[in-house]
Amino acid sequence: MLELKGINVHYGSTQVLWDVSMSVGRGEIVSVMGPNGSGKSTVLKAAMGLKKASSGAVILNGTDLQGKSATTRPRQGMSIVLERRRLFPRMSVRENILLGAFTRPQKDARRAFDEVLDTLPDLKPHLNATAGKLSGGQQQMVAIARGLMADPRVLLMDEPFLGLSPIMVKTVSGIMKSINERGVAILFNEQNAKLSFALSHRGYLLESGRVVLSGSGEEMLDHPEVKRVYLGVGAAAK
Ligand SMILES: Nc1ncnc2c1ncn2[C@@H]1O[C@H](COP(=O)(O)OP(=O)(O)OP(=O)(O)O)[C@@H](O)[C@H]1O
Ligand SMILES: [Mg+2]
Repeated sequence: MLELKGINVHYGSTQVLWDVSMSVGRGEIVSVMGPNGSGKSTVLKAAMGLKKASSGAVILNGTDLQGKSATTRPRQGMSIVLERRRLFPRMSVRENILLGAFTRPQKDARRAFDEVLDTLPDLKPHLNATAGKLSGGQQQMVAIARGLMADPRVLLMDEPFLGLSPIMVKTVSGIMKSINERGVAILFNEQNAKLSFALSHRGYLLESGRVVLSGSGEEMLDHPEVKRVYLGVGAAAK
């Protein structure tokens, strides 16, 4: 459903993604794992059109999105939850969520709002609260709610667990699963290998802007290289 084909991205004259190809199928949760600075956020930004690729293609349901801006991509069925949530802290939770539907007619937005609250009922008591006053986990839920307002077929999530307590990590991963069960494919990135691949059907390992490994979540967790470098098992376990 979403396909990245041979994506190259530069910041100025520095190339940060090299020939990156990935796919997300209908109903899949797919993760991009990689160390700091490996290019995970740039992959999502290139998919969403927030960062222009120098070459390569982004194809969503057979449509080449080349030349389609980030503001039109929600209408194509894709939406992004940015790293560190990027909420408007002084606005209410309700206002922040409604901003996610800026491309949709008001009638659709109202229906989407009700649906989103069915998926994230914990937000109901906080709708009039100031977004900046909520806990990190609650703010992440607001950011997810905002992303869902565009009624995406594919939801991109940049480090959805960043800075969350272990209990909130569980809550947010549960939310991701339930969103996925409602038919939304998810592409997310995460630095922790275990968290990445335990939650995803398939995953990619990105190193220095290149995909170096891919497979099912289980295969990735079981891969000797992933185990040795990212899970810290191997030498000690011998
Ligand atoms: N706006 C920018 N201008 C110049 N270089 C950038 C910019 N954004 C990212 N980079 C560089 O591109 C590379 C990839 O960055 P990116 O943010 O995609 O990595 P990441 O895997 O998401 O990292 P992190 O784990 O820190 O979130 C890094 O070397 C980074 O320094
Ligand atoms: Mg990042």
